[in-house]
Amino acid sequence: MEYKNINWNRIKEQFTIEPSLKYFGSCVSSPIPTQVIDAANQYYIEQARFGDSAWDIWEKRQEAIRSNIATLLNAEPEEIGFGMNTSHGMNLVAEILKGEGNVLTMKGEFASSIVPWLNKRYEVSYVNPINFEYPISEIESAFKASSNTKVLVSSHVQYSTGYMQDLNLLGDFCRKNKLINVINATQSIGAMPINVKESNIDFLVCSTYKWALSGFGVAIIYINKKYLKNFTPPMAGSLNVEGSLSGDFDSLKYTYGAKSLEIGTPHFPNIFALGAAIEIISKLGVNNIQTRIYELQEYLRKELENNEIKTHHFSDKSHRSGILLLDLKNPKEVSDKLEVLNYFVSRRMDGLRLTTHIFNSKDEIDQLVQDLKKIINSL
Ligand SMILES: Cc1ncc(COP(=O)(O)O)c(C=O)c1O
Repeated sequence: MEYKNINWNRIKEQFTIEPSLKYFGSCVSSPIPTQVIDAANQYYIEQARFGDSAWDIWEKRQEAIRSNIATLLNAEPEEIGFGMNTSHGMNLVAEILKGEGNVLTMKGEFASSIVPWLNKRYEVSYVNPINFEYPISEIESAFKASSNTKVLVSSHVQYSTGYMQDLNLLGDFCRKNKLINVINATQSIGAMPINVKESNIDFLVCSTYKWALSGFGVAIIYINKKYLKNFTPPMAGSLNVEGSLSGDFDSLKYTYGAKSLEIGTPHFPNIFALGAAIEIISKLGVNNIQTRIYELQEYLRKELENNEIKTHHFSDKSHRSGILLLDLKNPKEVSDKLEVLNYFVSRRMDGLRLTTHIFNSKDEIDQLVQDLKKIINSL
C-alpha cells in the first residue's frame, strides 16, 4: 500500500478508544484495534463450541502467524518463537548463552534488558550515554575497556529517551568484534522497520503490547538459525520434546527451531491477537507506519517549539523514534495536571514522554500543545 493512499485520519475508527481519553502513551502500552479483540474472542468462541476438536485449526493458525512475523522481520519461520514478555524471552536468551562470556549493554536500559543477565551472574559492563545517545564510538570504547565481552545487549529504541540505535551499524560492529548481538525491540516492533538479517541480529526479543498493538501476554523471540543446530532449549515440557504422546523419553529429542522454547500448550488467544495486529501492521506497511509516526512527531515537536516548550529531540533524524522526551523543569506536576484533563502520557525517571502512534491526529496534538502551554504557564 502506498503512503498517500492510506486515509490516516480514519485509522482511529479501527479502535474503540474512550472518546474522552487523549492517548499519548504508547511507550507504556497501546489501545488495541477491534480486529485484535475479534481474533482473541474468536478463539474463545471456538473453544466453547468445538473444544479440543479445533486444536489442528489453532495450530495451523499459530504457524501462519509465525510465518507472518518472520516476513515482517525478514527472518525464517523456524527462527521465531512465542514467549510471554521481554523479561521471559531475555531470561531464555541469557540461559541459552550461559558460559559464552561477559555482557556489554547500555546504561539506562529497561530492566528486562539487564536483570535477566545479572540474575544469571553474568559480568555486565555498561556504555554511558552522551546527551542520551549511544554512538558506536562510545560502544567501541566501552568494549575495549571491558574484558572477555562476548554478548552485546541493546534496545533498538531506548524506553526513557526514545533514542533509536542504528541496527545496521550495531550489527556491523558486532560482526567485526565477534559479539553476539542481542536486541530488545519492545519500543520499536510494529512502528519501526527491523531486518534481522541485514542488521546481523543473533537474538531479538520483544513484548508486543506497545507499538505492535496486541495487548499483554505475548512476546516474540527470534533466534538466528545458526544457533538452532544441536540446540538444547533451556526448558523442556510436553510440547517441545518428541514422543510426548507415546511416553518414550529414553532419549530426549527436541522440536526443531525457536518453537522449542514453547514448552507446553500455547497461549492461543494472545498469539491470535498478535496475529491480527501483525496483519494490520503488514497491510499498512511498517515503513508507512514509521512515516506517519514521524509526521505526527515532527508536527508535535514544531508546535511545542512554537510555544516555547523544549524537547530533547535528536538532531540526527535517524535516531528519532515514536517517543518524544520533553525538557521540563517540573515533569511530575505537569503530568499530574495532564492526567486531570484525561490525558494518558508517561513519566519515567525525570522526564515526561509523549508518543505519537497511528491512532493519533494533528487535531489531538493541537489540543495537547494548548493544554500543555496553559499548564506550564500556571506553574
Ligand atoms: C525497552 C523495553 N523493554 C521491555 C519492556 C517491557 O518488558 P516486560 O514486558 O518484560 O515487562 C519495556 C516496557 O516499558 C521497555 O520499554
